[in-house]
Amino acid sequence: MYKFVLAGVSVLFMAAAACAQPNQTMNNTSSNSKILVACFSATGTTARIAERVAAATGGTLYAITPAEPYTSADLDWTDKHSRSSREMNDPKARPEIAGKSLDMTRYEVIFLGYPIWWDLAPRIVETFLDRYDLRGKSIIPFATSGGSGISNSAAALKKAYPEAKWHQGRLLNRVGDAEIRDWVEQILKAEN
Ligand SMILES: Cc1cc2nc3c(=O)[nH]c(=O)nc-3n(C[C@H](O)[C@H](O)[C@H](O)COP(=O)(O)O)c2cc1C
Repeated sequence: MYKFVLAGVSVLFMAAAACAQPNQTMNNTSSNSKILVACFSATGTTARIAERVAAATGGTLYAITPAEPYTSADLDWTDKHSRSSREMNDPKARPEIAGKSLDMTRYEVIFLGYPIWWDLAPRIVETFLDRYDLRGKSIIPFATSGGSGISNSAAALKKAYPEAKWHQGRLLNRVGDAEIRDWVEQILKAEN
């Protein structure tokens, strides 16, 4: 029993650590310097997908890291006073991001990953987008969720940031590597 609890705690710790480094960027072996894979993930699920998208694209992985990390109380969607509920109820909420801004002029294509919160992208995704001049950038939203689709969140982002060239979003719940590779290939073909 003790071992089981210990193993569970280490898995949770590793999942948190995967997304915990402030604004971590990491280059891939077959790197494509014009592609950025930016991701916000509160509990590690979207972060793990983002790593696979980065591997498939050869892009630079960037974790959108909140200046104030989300606790499990913050993420309690059953509590209408929790931090996430308050942020999602306020369209103008812009939770602060830790660390310096990226040099976005280096990137042309941005794969943008997030968990679905209340059928939308978490507000910190807008804090991220607000930081940069998105004119001429291609943005490809992807998400994980407990079952909701990505359409509503992707449409809201497209409406809020019309200066970017938005691709159709893709929900990446429980996907295999081949599916990720095919999807990435299609997008990059459309881009060239
Ligand atoms: C505050 C909050 C709101 C959520 N709202 C939804 C929702 O509207 N629809 C849905 O399918 N899942 C919802 N979820 C579940 C997450 O989208 C899902 O667990 C996601 O994979 C978590 O990704 P992460 O580990 O990268 O944070 C919500 C989770 C949280 C914490």
